[in-house]
Amino acid sequence: MASQMKAIQLTEYVKGPLDLTPTTLPRPTPKPDESLIRIHAAATNFFDLLQIAGKYQNQPPFPWIAGAEFAGIVEEIGAGSSSFKTGDKVFGYVQGAYAEYCCVKTSTLLPVPKGWSFADAAGLFITAPTSYAALTIRAEAKRGEWVLVHAGAGGVGLFAIQVAKAVGCTVIATASTAEKLAICKRFGADHVISYSDTDWVKEVLRLRPGGVDIVFDPVGLINQSLKCTAWNGRLLIIGFAAGAIEQVPMNRVLLKNVSLVGVHWGEYMKKGVEAGTVERVWRDILGMIGEGKIKPITNEKVYEGLENVGKALKALGARETWGKVVAKKVVRPWERTLGKQCGISLYPPLIGSWSFGETPEKGSVGYIEDLDTLLEYQMLIR
Ligand SMILES: NC(=O)c1ccc[n+]([C@@H]2O[C@H](COP(=O)([O-])OP(=O)(O)OC[C@H]3O[C@@H](n4cnc5c(N)ncnc54)[C@H](OP(=O)(O)O)[C@@H]3O)[C@@H](O)[C@H]2O)c1
Repeated sequence: MASQMKAIQLTEYVKGPLDLTPTTLPRPTPKPDESLIRIHAAATNFFDLLQIAGKYQNQPPFPWIAGAEFAGIVEEIGAGSSSFKTGDKVFGYVQGAYAEYCCVKTSTLLPVPKGWSFADAAGLFITAPTSYAALTIRAEAKRGEWVLVHAGAGGVGLFAIQVAKAVGCTVIATASTAEKLAICKRFGADHVISYSDTDWVKEVLRLRPGGVDIVFDPVGLINQSLKCTAWNGRLLIIGFAAGAIEQVPMNRVLLKNVSLVGVHWGEYMKKGVEAGTVERVWRDILGMIGEGKIKPITNEKVYEGLENVGKALKALGARETWGKVVAKKVVRPWERTLGKQCGISLYPPLIGSWSFGETPEKGSVGYIEDLDTLLEYQMLIR
């Protein structure tokens, strides 16, 4: 295994994501309770953008590696025991996902769901449980209720639509463009409304006279949403993608008999906060995935290589994207050629032993060691 790796390390804050460049660093070594992961894909989050500019609530001391959500292969397990073994496909969260390798607490790792690619799984760890916990734990969504999901085509929005539908709710989704509204429909929204060029409050009330039971708000639309929330309604405060933190007149909360409900998923993951909740949430989410009720939300444009992470983050910040924007490991030209030339029947003799132009070292970027990885390459070139 190589002793060095490429990673996007910050030694100072950058003006924008395009200033991010990979450098060569020593490959990390896992502590007893950690695993070394070879990262195959890393997702982008809005907070990654804030963090590289020094505007996030969690700023590590310099130098630090950017990125958080990842999926990859367990390369080495520290001294402690684990239900995972070398070669397992996993996803998780770490400070430093924009790298070829990371070390992460083994107890936090989760298995890549069957049929999900690394790119799909890279976008799960923070986004999916935020939407699930918000709707089922914080708002206690029930079958038959109406849910208004703002920014329905965003990361948390698309998972929220799927979770609400799985619970048996009727979903109204909002978004800014016709393309994003079509995406919301594709993921199960019953009704869609453009909030950029319609009186969306009036439209919600036309669809659901009396108002919706739950508002899922990652944007900062609580004040307007109060006008179309039903008696006993719950308004979930997920985020402030529009940039402003609202001031809410509390008399309206009282008069409408509604609840403003905060959601801070990251805190649940800290030891001691509601023991057992994180495990239960993941059991439920993986169960829903197994039943096909939650599908991957990976944007069709997957960025290749650490060199393109900046472009992926720029697209996210420019509001051009839907779902999860992911950067995955570089696929070399000879790997593409290999992918084009081999079929599944040729697969076993090729694994770990093939030679095509050059033979990659075991564990290096080009080393294909399982069928899923090979198939990923094939999918990518189609
Ligand atoms: N509370 C928690 O535990 C938690 C966990 C994860 C994320 N969050 C927060 O939730 C928010 C959304 O996260 P996400 O991962 O879904 O992000 P995302 O994929 O980037 O989606 C955000 C969406 O917000 C909409 N939006 C509206 N006004 C915007 C503006 N001025 N600039 C940018 N986007 C705007 C955009 O959709 P349209 O173009 O359709 O308007 C965009 O697609 C973020 O603020 C994030 O920090 C909170």
